[in-house]
Amino acid sequence: MKRPARDIAVEELTAEQAAADLKALESEIAAHDRAYYQKDAPVVTDAEYDALRQRNEAIEARFPELVRPDSPSRRVGAAPAAGFEKVSHSRPMLSLGNAFDDEDVREFVARVRRFLGLAEDESVEVVAEPKIDGLSVSLRYEDGRFVGGATRGDGATGENVTANLSTIPSLPKRVEDGMPRVLDVRGEVYMSKADFAALNRNQEAAGAKTFANPRNAAAGSLRQLDPAITAARPLSFFAYAWGEASEAPAKTHSEFLQKLKHWGFQTNPLARPFCEVEALLSYHAEIAEGRHTLDYDVDGMVYKVNRIDWQDRLGQVSRAPRWAIAHKFAAEQAETVVEEITIQVGRTGTLTPVAVLRPVTVGGVVVSRATLHNEDEIARKDVRQGDAVIVQRAGDVIPQVVSVVAEKRPPDSVPYVFRKDCPICGSLARRAEGEAARRCTGGLICPAQAVERLKHFVSRDAFDVEGLGGKHIETFFADGLIKTPGDIFRLSDKADEIKEREGWGEKSSENLASALIERRGVALDRFIYALGIRQVGQATARLLAKQYGSLKAWRRAMQSARDPESEAYADLVNIDGVGPLVAADLVSFCAEAHNTDVLDDLEGLLTVADFSAPAVQETPVAGKTVVFTGTLEKMSRGEAKARAEALGAKVAGSVSRKTDYVIVGADAGSKARKAADLGVTVLDEAAWLKMIDTS
Ligand code: IVH
Repeated sequence: MKRPARDIAVEELTAEQAAADLKALESEIAAHDRAYYQKDAPVVTDAEYDALRQRNEAIEARFPELVRPDSPSRRVGAAPAAGFEKVSHSRPMLSLGNAFDDEDVREFVARVRRFLGLAEDESVEVVAEPKIDGLSVSLRYEDGRFVGGATRGDGATGENVTANLSTIPSLPKRVEDGMPRVLDVRGEVYMSKADFAALNRNQEAAGAKTFANPRNAAAGSLRQLDPAITAARPLSFFAYAWGEASEAPAKTHSEFLQKLKHWGFQTNPLARPFCEVEALLSYHAEIAEGRHTLDYDVDGMVYKVNRIDWQDRLGQVSRAPRWAIAHKFAAEQAETVVEEITIQVGRTGTLTPVAVLRPVTVGGVVVSRATLHNEDEIARKDVRQGDAVIVQRAGDVIPQVVSVVAEKRPPDSVPYVFRKDCPICGSLARRAEGEAARRCTGGLICPAQAVERLKHFVSRDAFDVEGLGGKHIETFFADGLIKTPGDIFRLSDKADEIKEREGWGEKSSENLASALIERRGVALDRFIYALGIRQVGQATARLLAKQYGSLKAWRRAMQSARDPESEAYADLVNIDGVGPLVAADLVSFCAEAHNTDVLDDLEGLLTVADFSAPAVQETPVAGKTVVFTGTLEKMSRGEAKARAEALGAKVAGSVSRKTDYVIVGADAGSKARKAADLGVTVLDEAAWLKMIDTS
């Protein structure tokens, strides 16, 4: 009779026996963890439990190659109090652009056709698949083994949640054949509606916190520091994309989905290819209609160009691929009453009217406030206090007031009059010509603007300080603990004071201090974005970081650019995607004394890393500035620009002395002349293509 591996001394185990025992130990220890942590009902003594863990460790020490990603040795104790280890994605995890109606989808396909320059009789095959409302993760496989996984995070850097992912039953830990040596499999972790309902019932019975929706439950479960808790939460996974791959796993997206299935991944059974836009749209309508019968939340459809070579040519713009788009389902609506209209003041001083609603459930979520956008919107819809209105919400978007139910208007109702002053600081609220927004002129003396800027500063895409949310910023600000962005970092010296505050304790205040210290190192683009300069979102911040490279160089350039005749100004407006309006906001921000004070202060407190361009291969055009003009024959302007950028060139909108090459197509006008005047090298399309021919 075969002896069970457990009865054999560690020194005498064969590799095969060791692997079998490690597997058994993993599930036994996980079961004990669950009994202990979740149910408060351990079934073994502490000594017996310790013996299991010691055996696990001893076997792993003898057979390091057998260490499992889900090993208990990687789990407990490994859970760092301050959060998860950060991992950078070897290829960024992109987000998707949105199509809000059928017309946007037709335009998406037309754009793809234009970009690729397709002939009329050539069809574009597009795969439609449900957009799963969960959270995306990247799973790394090496030699067919699952070796680690991370959350999306900001797309560039996520959190290492390997141990937690290992607990998902439908996620293959080992793939037998045919997978590239290295492959990042990407997809969505979600919780089914049935599992969500059961989890909430259990949580409620145990007096624990319940979750608002399956997505939050999935996110909360995956981001548990203790994998034993994750293991007890029923999570599932749909695979739908890949990141880094040692070789391309497929020629089409459909083929890739087939392979995933073959490798043991769950793929969504509703994915279908279409050649006609109208068929795509009917499929969207069909799934929208039936979505309530699915056992998971779907918030729309995702359309992906099927051919991978076309995907590669299409590339990406900012952080979304040109070859895919999300088509959301129509918003869910409900009727309720506007109890009051209040005004909120945002970080740039914009006065936004908000309807305070009688709470109503819309698409499974209770809504009690909705935006009314601006003065003109209120007038156009004639929304008044006391009106019955239709409200809607779509995905994560802020609820909106769609229309007034005219028949239900109270007889004494009066039109809403928009105030002309700031409700917070009393300063004049001015409306510039041609603009929809009325803005408070109080600047930083307006507490609302100051506090909103600070909230933006620590928000997810900016400094993303763990444990410091908008509500904390509000109370710290109200109590005078923080006034400027620099004060936020000085909070790390005030852990003693913070721990005495309501809602805080020893542990949370120490965690905050260490999170703040960790965040003192920041990438230049995040830093610029965090400043909350008007019109400078993430994409623009990135362009600036790329252009100027370091904080010092950027600041110097913004000072010099105050003179509109300067070369610095010309360079700034010449960044493709900046332009005179954004330039004006940047220059005036950097010219204001209180902003330079804030920047000086932050420079002393932080280490702002120089922009590191993603490694570009040595190409003949890397680092060169090029300008395209006229009509190209072989490819659209968009594709030409994307190709040039992928090869490390900067594409500018107009010709200057800094331009290296001007590529002229047919009917080129003044730019070609200017290039000749300035002595800049002019290339025709063929010469350019020859130059960048890397094959
Ligand atoms: S593809 C480069 N397919 O939607 C393409 N995304 O808004 C990357 N998502 O971050 C995404 N279902 O979390 C893709 N079938 C699906 C999806 C899907 C849900 C999520 C994903 C992504 C977000 C973008």
